[in-house]
Amino acid sequence: MPAPVTVRVPSKVNLHLAVGDLRPDGYHDLATVFQALSLTDEVTVAIADEPGVEVHGEGADSVPTGASNLAWRAVQELARHVGRDADEPKVRIVIRKGIPVSGGMAGGSADAAATLVGLAALWRLDIGRDELAKVAARLGSDVPFVLHGGTALGTGRGEQLVPVLTRHTYHWVLAFDRRGLSTPKVYGELDRLRAEGDPPRIGDVEPVLEALASGDPRQLALLLGNDLQAASVSLRPGLRRTLRAGVTAGALAGTVSGSGPTCAFLCEDADAALRVAAELSGAGVCRTVRVAHGPVPGARVTATEERP
Ligand code: C5P
Repeated sequence: MPAPVTVRVPSKVNLHLAVGDLRPDGYHDLATVFQALSLTDEVTVAIADEPGVEVHGEGADSVPTGASNLAWRAVQELARHVGRDADEPKVRIVIRKGIPVSGGMAGGSADAAATLVGLAALWRLDIGRDELAKVAARLGSDVPFVLHGGTALGTGRGEQLVPVLTRHTYHWVLAFDRRGLSTPKVYGELDRLRAEGDPPRIGDVEPVLEALASGDPRQLALLLGNDLQAASVSLRPGLRRTLRAGVTAGALAGTVSGSGPTCAFLCEDADAALRVAAELSGAGVCRTVRVAHGPVPGARVTATEERP
């Protein structure tokens, strides 16, 4: 029997998230710049007589372990793709969460991407990253990016990716909120706000790409932008205070990560990030504070247990 495979997978922050209008298929066209962060989940896949999903760690209690779990859907989707039995795959998945659940950092997508990479190794599939990315796109808009990692420009609903040149490691402080936010609800709130009065939209993506090429975090900090921020703040008004507290603590700038409610603060360097994290922890505006850096690679096998 093949040995269990463990995969580490990054979270993401959107440095730029421009949301277009609602499409007939229920999605919105995006122009976004993703960056993969060192805040990770670890997923172990193993052949097992008792199939299923187990979740441990950060926010584990609120992750479904049944058929709706995105990692389980990844098992079924990949099984179908390669012509295996998709109804009863004899696979057990153990997820160790570091990424906040429903936090706007692609935690569920990360577990799906890690499962695809783990299964490709476990089942010894002859499948390239590009083909895996196509399966990933069927599972969710962010799954291809966390598979890929690094920094990338995403278009379409976020699944069409082009790598972006970066010259620097960026240091982030992340503020987790007490409860998550539902992504569809945040997009729905943006549609509502736009129907009411067209809130301002963020600018073009080109200056962000130029700032990334220059490698100056201060230049990038001025350009962080997220069209979903107004919607997540509308649903969770306390985020306004969190965003202010991060900047008061010394961050260069703060943004809601994706659909939120996690707030991401860009800092000058690693030392500054530690100082900001310490101060923000004491400010009483969020549940947990973490530091992370990016870009980091996408989902990668870290260990294959040897069986005697
Ligand atoms: O693709 P994913 O399943 O992660 O998307 C979750 C939900 O977020 C979608 O059902 C949709 O409501 C919203 N969404 C969107 N436009 C996108 C991506 C997501 O409206 N580009």
